Amino acid sequence: AVTVYPDQHVASVKVAQRIAEVIRRKQEEHQKAVLGLATGVTPIGVYNELVRLHKEDGLSFRNVITFNLDEYYPMKPDAAQSYVTFMNENLFNHIDIDPQNVHIPDGTLAADDVAEWCLEYEKQIEALGGLDLQILGIGRTGHIGFNEPGSAPNSGTRLVTLDDLTRADAARDFGGKANVPTKAITMGVGTIFKAREIILMAWSKKKAPIIKKAIEGEISGEVPATYLQLSDNVEFVLDQDAASDLT
Ligand code: F6R
Repeated sequence: AVTVYPDQHVASVKVAQRIAEVIRRKQEEHQKAVLGLATGVTPIGVYNELVRLHKEDGLSFRNVITFNLDEYYPMKPDAAQSYVTFMNENLFNHIDIDPQNVHIPDGTLAADDVAEWCLEYEKQIEALGGLDLQILGIGRTGHIGFNEPGSAPNSGTRLVTLDDLTRADAARDFGGKANVPTKAITMGVGTIFKAREIILMAWSKKKAPIIKKAIEGEISGEVPATYLQLSDNVEFVLDQDAASDLT
């Protein structure tokens, strides 16, 4: 399904409301809500609204367990550019989530330990009954998580090499492309696909060409987001600008 909103603020509030619904339903069932989270500029409005719902509307995250999509590798958690820092600053520092329930790929692993760690990440998600809801942004390469062109539809959590365009887009955060790590640990396309519900968000004209490919293009590993066309549980949430190339 594709839903287009007039602007990203309205869209972000809707996505936050959907997340809150899942959290509250699970709470009523005395179960944990297992959320897959994304970083980057796209979900910031959603996190702002979730913080507001926590502070002003009594939304509690005590029953929430989170798994982030990805982290640069190598990356120290306390570095300004780490996704740990991003999540703390934009969400976790402002809500009542138990820090033990937060999972983010570990950018400090020794090379030899990465593969086993990645399998464990998958197992942890599975042991909790899988992801109830995964939110996604989309990169201009068509990546979801850091599943760059060439990623397989059944790929799991793993170490990947970042596409040149992805590193160029991250250059500003790192004070130059040369400082952007060449690798990352990411959930796989297969990991994402197992979520019971997936919401991919995109805002602005900058995303319009890749959104057209993702939604209307041929399904291919060259644009990993096209795999989402194969799922009935995906909603593309767009602002008018990101939707402007759709036919
Ligand atoms: C982030 C992630 C990436 C971003 C994508 C878009 O955890 O997995 O796929 O969602 O690169 O980034 P922004 O939102 O900064 O345009």
